[in-house]
Amino acid sequence: MSSEVRLHQILDWDSPQQNARLRRELAAGLLQAKASIAPKFFYDRLGSRLFEAITELPEYYPTRTEAAIFSEHLPAIRQALGQGFTLIDLGCGSCGKAGRLFHAGVLPSRYVAVDISVDFMRDSLQQLKRELPAIEMIGIGIDFTHEFELPDDLPLKRRVFFYPGSSIGNFSPPDAGRFLRGLADRMDASGGLLIGVDLIKASALLDAAYDDALGVTAAFNRNLLRHVNVRIDADFDLRDWQHVAFYNATDARIEMHLEARRALTVNWPDAAGRSLRQFVAGERIHTENSYKYSPEGFTALLASAGFSDIRMWTDPRGWFALFFARRAE
Ligand code: AVJ
Repeated sequence: MSSEVRLHQILDWDSPQQNARLRRELAAGLLQAKASIAPKFFYDRLGSRLFEAITELPEYYPTRTEAAIFSEHLPAIRQALGQGFTLIDLGCGSCGKAGRLFHAGVLPSRYVAVDISVDFMRDSLQQLKRELPAIEMIGIGIDFTHEFELPDDLPLKRRVFFYPGSSIGNFSPPDAGRFLRGLADRMDASGGLLIGVDLIKASALLDAAYDDALGVTAAFNRNLLRHVNVRIDADFDLRDWQHVAFYNATDARIEMHLEARRALTVNWPDAAGRSLRQFVAGERIHTENSYKYSPEGFTALLASAGFSDIRMWTDPRGWFALFFARRAE
């Protein structure tokens, strides 16, 4: 058995083309009246590590709750997935969730790890391959929220997309619907989707999960500015920015922002020479939305995106849900 993993479409943040696109995207977000930076900028190597640390925090219940649902309902999940499937892990990070599934006996014949944090994904996947050499493993370094091409030779039969952790919450509900439809389009009727979704709950629990006492989420949020400095030579001073996170019940979402502690100017070089954005004290950069769903709401979203045979498992407190659905014929 080969201990090699195949690597595909490796995103190179530093290639001139990609960097030019990044610069355009970041400049567009920063120059809006309400400044924003997309959450994918959280995930450089340090950001991926900070996210791993978040998952260990007492306040951050999603990862732990999802893991408990997996262990509680393992036989039913194993049965729903069957055998001989290709698991396509969207945003695999450390590949830890897939690894735990495999060690619990939910074994695909092929594992496709997809992540934007290329170095982190490569290291994690190579480690997993050493532990489980019998599973064919492929790594794909792309921004799957932007454009998403699977290798041409990846068989269509029995593709199971794995999208745990409620990462779907980063999309607005209409965008989530379009994204899920795109997944349905990339499988046939033998395929499926295994997806974790955070549920609507008391706002105090949500607020604490995104503004922990230790300040790890604050570090994770502010690290985005450090990453942007690296990518486009911007001069954000991290000390000037404060973490703000709260549950917006009207839109059923957590919002994360970075708030300027004082009036300041951020500069970055560009083709024209230099761009700048001025901020007044208290002005914010919107960095993330994390939408929460009701079980009925997410079921309806799956159905409208072309899925059927929808099954849901949840924890006793009803904080988080795991869905498995097949592509409607
Ligand atoms: C990786 C998008 C699922 O929304 O809970 C955690 C990211 N942001 N703490 C989430 C995150 C702040 C996380 N997702």
